[in-house]
Amino acid sequence: MNLARQIEQYLPQPLLALVKDISGQAAKQRERVYLVGGVVRDLLLGYPNFDLDLVVEGDAVRLAQRVAETGQARLLAHHRFGTAKLRYENFILDLATARKETYARPGALPAVTPGTLKDDLIRRDFSINAMAISLAPNDYGELIDTHQGRTDLEHRLIRILHPGSFTDDATRILRAVCYEQRFGFKFETQTARLLKRGIPMLDTISGDRIRHELEHIFEEKRPELVIKRLGDLGALHRIHSSLAGDGWIAEKFDKARRHKKPAQLPPLYFCFLVYSFSENELGQFLTRLNLPAKLSRIMRDTLHLKTSLRLLDRPSLKHSEIHCLLREYQPLAIQANAMATESPTARRSLQLFLTKLRYVRTSLDGEELKKLGISAGPEMGKVLERLHKAKLDGEVRTRADEKKLALSLSPKL
Ligand code: CTP
Repeated sequence: MNLARQIEQYLPQPLLALVKDISGQAAKQRERVYLVGGVVRDLLLGYPNFDLDLVVEGDAVRLAQRVAETGQARLLAHHRFGTAKLRYENFILDLATARKETYARPGALPAVTPGTLKDDLIRRDFSINAMAISLAPNDYGELIDTHQGRTDLEHRLIRILHPGSFTDDATRILRAVCYEQRFGFKFETQTARLLKRGIPMLDTISGDRIRHELEHIFEEKRPELVIKRLGDLGALHRIHSSLAGDGWIAEKFDKARRHKKPAQLPPLYFCFLVYSFSENELGQFLTRLNLPAKLSRIMRDTLHLKTSLRLLDRPSLKHSEIHCLLREYQPLAIQANAMATESPTARRSLQLFLTKLRYVRTSLDGEELKKLGISAGPEMGKVLERLHKAKLDGEVRTRADEKKLALSLSPKL
């Protein structure tokens, strides 16, 4: 099957020119370049995808270096892995030397040696991700489908390429569910059986890799579907015994998406995932996934604030009191609680802090207080704090109000 016409329609013109140029340069060295993986799948499905993965039968790093020298690209090469990234103004291209993989033990990163395109395809996760399109000038557009990926796409099936697939790499369990939910596909019978049997193998996967897959899931349009299904299959439980994919999580994920920018979503999703955890369980989860310090702090703050929410459930609270209760928490932890709490009063206070109170500043600063005769040190600290409270509570509005209050406070101190 030749897809030359489809490629010309599918890829934006500048990207098309680029891959043709790369393939042309490769041909001069008797090397061959192929489009592989997700982009081939999505081209056949008619879904846009401009994250191009190119496999080179030859030396991908050397080819990328030549391309970077002649074009406008920035190069990032990993000689050890035989991979390179070419970063253009509007695109990123990933080039990889065709490779053979062997797994020393389940869950380990594979040992890699150079190979042919066929070797490179058979090491992949599912048949729908194991197709390639030649970009070589002599058979440009030819589909290479050694594992019947196109038939599986037509039958809407996710199928592994060999029985040991989930044992070699149990992250494929998470990936399989992701594709199942994204495309509304089914697992082929043997794949379904082996996937369920492979769930204990998630124990062999490092925290970093599990986290990476969760982050990948969180980029889905509706990650809650993936989370729910992973819960039903027992995969979440295997990652941490308290993880669940219940309806509450689905509702909160959906709410976050309606109100927040995409960049804020992954940390919020992580917070909702652990919202029912005890502090102890959270500690285990953070360690298991080796979560970065900043995100860990947001998640710890979320649970800590959750236990203090009753303090905010009082309509009579002054703005300065709300500020005092919330100022030490990460804004995203406050956000997570505002979305999670059932109490409208607490929610209003949390929102008020996020949208207004946290930005309130006094008009007078230390220098100006000095001019009023207030000496630097603890005295000034107290005056500034009192001014800030007064500003939050609307007791002072103008600079003149603040000056008056500062002078009236100073002798007392
Ligand atoms: N791959 C694999 N096993 C994995 C991870 C990736 O075989 N554990 C292969 C698949 O062939 C996949 C390709 O590497 O298509 C690229 O991986 P990735 O970028 O994660 O996925 P995409 O297919 O590009 O899919 P997505 O649309 O989800 O990004």
